[in-house]
Amino acid sequence: MSGKNHEPAGQEPGAPRIAPADEERALDPAPGAQIKALKEAHSLERARFASLLEISAVLSSTLNQPRLLEVILEATNKLTRTGASSILLIDPQTNSLYFEATSNIAHRQIERIEVPLEGSIAGWVVQHRKPRIIEEVSDASEFTVSAKTDSLLTFSTDSVLAVPLMIKGKVIGVLEALNKQDRQPFTAEDVEALEAMATQAAVAIENARLFQQSDFISEMVHELRTPLMALVALSELLTRPDLPADQREEFAQTIQREAKRLSEMTSSFLELSRLESGRVKLKCEPIDLRGIIQETITVQRQQATERGINIEVDLPAELPPMVGDAGRIKQVLLNLISNAIKYNRPNGTIAVSAEHKDETIQVCVRDSGRGIPSDAIKNLFTRFYRVPDTEGYTAGTGLGLSIAQRIVQQHGGRIWVESELEKGTRFCFTLPLEAVGRPEPLRLDEHL
Ligand SMILES: Nc1ncnc2c1ncn2[C@@H]1O[C@H](COP(=O)(O)OP(=O)(O)OP(=O)(O)O)[C@@H](O)[C@H]1O
Ligand SMILES: [Mg+2]
Repeated sequence: MSGKNHEPAGQEPGAPRIAPADEERALDPAPGAQIKALKEAHSLERARFASLLEISAVLSSTLNQPRLLEVILEATNKLTRTGASSILLIDPQTNSLYFEATSNIAHRQIERIEVPLEGSIAGWVVQHRKPRIIEEVSDASEFTVSAKTDSLLTFSTDSVLAVPLMIKGKVIGVLEALNKQDRQPFTAEDVEALEAMATQAAVAIENARLFQQSDFISEMVHELRTPLMALVALSELLTRPDLPADQREEFAQTIQREAKRLSEMTSSFLELSRLESGRVKLKCEPIDLRGIIQETITVQRQQATERGINIEVDLPAELPPMVGDAGRIKQVLLNLISNAIKYNRPNGTIAVSAEHKDETIQVCVRDSGRGIPSDAIKNLFTRFYRVPDTEGYTAGTGLGLSIAQRIVQQHGGRIWVESELEKGTRFCFTLPLEAVGRPEPLRLDEHL
């Protein structure tokens, strides 16, 4: 290890404290300069303490994960006077360490980049459960991963202070402060302040995770309860010996319908919770979007014909080559087309089109249905939302569009809706030809 790089928390209790740069300067024999330096150090510490208090209040009151991460990154830069910072978290399922957020790079660029535990500074911190300072990353030959990450992110790391994010002795991730201002060395105060902040940040991150989970679980339980209660009540009625045969038949059919709905709901819940956790990997490969659209229509045509609905298809003879997750794109189309059938009028029409626009393909599904009231439009992509009175005439979970939106966004595209009451609705989504927004996790070792 380079002489400049040290392990601050590796010191035994009572061992001499690493003299911060400010204090070293304070040992200057000139008394005036000494007092000035001490005063400066004192006011710096006061400012730092005030920042810590302020940050701690914000951290404990923020449950929105993206905002929370932003606050932590800003605070890290402020507390340690660094130019950039990163948060890496451990995926509880796979135990792998990955970039969750950085202060200077667009979120999309770093998302899901996995960092190996061996050969990385963050990995060292996870394994040793203590802070680490590297003053000259280029000198630290044991950490080959930093250079790789830098080249991948087109960023240059000079110095790093990394501290573990821990809850009850368990490491959940790493907080890194990068590039101290004016290439000053990191001080013991930097370490202390960042560790103090990391303790609170870890709790706040965990709370936000739990909150997200519990929010979703309670919504899910609520939604499952209604069909389950119906099933219990109906099956009880079925056991009555005096029940007329026609009613028995009717109840049996309702039970079947509700059970089918429950089973669809549970699959949708699972799908959405996977997508929302951000851990879903798209299986991106070259796809034939034209073929996918045609296959999806073939699957649904029967259902449409039963209601006298005609599906028109308007596709260019050829679409440019593109990359995406065929199965998931099909899922988006299936929901849009099944909605266009479900919410259409009898003998209505549906038009499915695709066109090449700039660097994207835009797909639209238009129907001649009942339309969507303008005040409902803003809620359409919210999970479990169904336009009031929809429930009365057709079954559904209200999850289809949330799932579709997640999938489109994961591909780096967008989805939107235009609708006119009593005239019809048009849902469109775009998919970029290349540079799929959130591809398979990038593995650093594969990039070299
Ligand atoms: N083409 C459409 N025309 C009119 N209303 C629509 C249309 N598509 C969706 N909606 C409204 O938006 C709501 C949400 O749609 P979404 O696809 O998310 O759920 P769903 O169709 O109710 O259930 P699921 O797709 O999970 O079976 C629907 O309940 C319906 O009220
Ligand atoms: Mg639907």
